[in-house]
Amino acid sequence: MSTDILTHTEAGVMTITFNRPERKNSITSAMYGALADALAAAEADATVRVVLLQGQESIFSAGNDIGDFLNKPPAGMDSPVFRFLRGIAAFPKPLVAAVCGPAVGVGTTLLFHCDLVYAGDNAAFSMPFVNLGLCPEAASSLLVPQMLGYHRAAEALLLGEPFMAEAAMEVGLVNRVVPPTEANGIAQAIARKLAAKPLSSLVETKRLMKKGQQALVIQQMAEEGASFGRMLQEPAAKEAFGAFMQKRKPDFSQV
Ligand code: COA
Repeated sequence: MSTDILTHTEAGVMTITFNRPERKNSITSAMYGALADALAAAEADATVRVVLLQGQESIFSAGNDIGDFLNKPPAGMDSPVFRFLRGIAAFPKPLVAAVCGPAVGVGTTLLFHCDLVYAGDNAAFSMPFVNLGLCPEAASSLLVPQMLGYHRAAEALLLGEPFMAEAAMEVGLVNRVVPPTEANGIAQAIARKLAAKPLSSLVETKRLMKKGQQALVIQQMAEEGASFGRMLQEPAAKEAFGAFMQKRKPDFSQV
């Protein structure tokens, strides 16, 4: 059995750990499947009251595993990546994240679906979809402008350059910036604090906060997914991914 995604439940908190640091916690299709299954199990299990997502002190996630992604591109809305994205967007119980080091692509966009985010001061968030010849996913084209305001969202999504923990806290993506050695522990303590509260009140409060745009989020994800799938086959993405594999700079002058 793969250990790339670890789950552990204690004190009402299911902790889900990206555990592939040698590949910078990049996410394969099998890992998306494991993440989607873990969220479904957490939703169904009455003893799980809160879910915490974490990586290690030096890395949260480098986003999609590029090789795996090219070999097994997502095939439709039932593919593991979309099961995970719908799962995280619709997850009814509180979701907490602890983020240290790079959080690239979906490593950042998944955070827009979390309720509380604690970041190590080394956290670097980036959504470089344009630099990969792609477009945003996980409803980030809707949620990023809402949270950051249009111009900062355009900077984050069109330029795709990393922004650090303090900047993420300023725009509201992060609740607190802490030393990387403490991030997972602080997030775990907050998750346990939440888990001690009445679950029915947590779930209802989250539902009421999110209900205004739940349908819109799912619709945006589907539209992004269709564009993303098409763009993955086009010359710009082919050049970007080819360049990544060959460890060279991409040349977009022809696309
Ligand atoms: N997919 C597959 N492999 C990846 C990966 C990814 N998304 N991100 C990193 N890796 C691999 C690297 O190729 C490298 O493999 P190697 O040891 O065989 O050369 C290994 O993980 C370590 O990565 P490296 O780039 O040396 O680490 P770093 O600390 O210098 O940089 C990142 C870390 C995350 C900033 C950098 O790896 C990166 O930008 N990755 C690509 C992220 C990306 O574009 N994701 C979007 C996918 S849609």
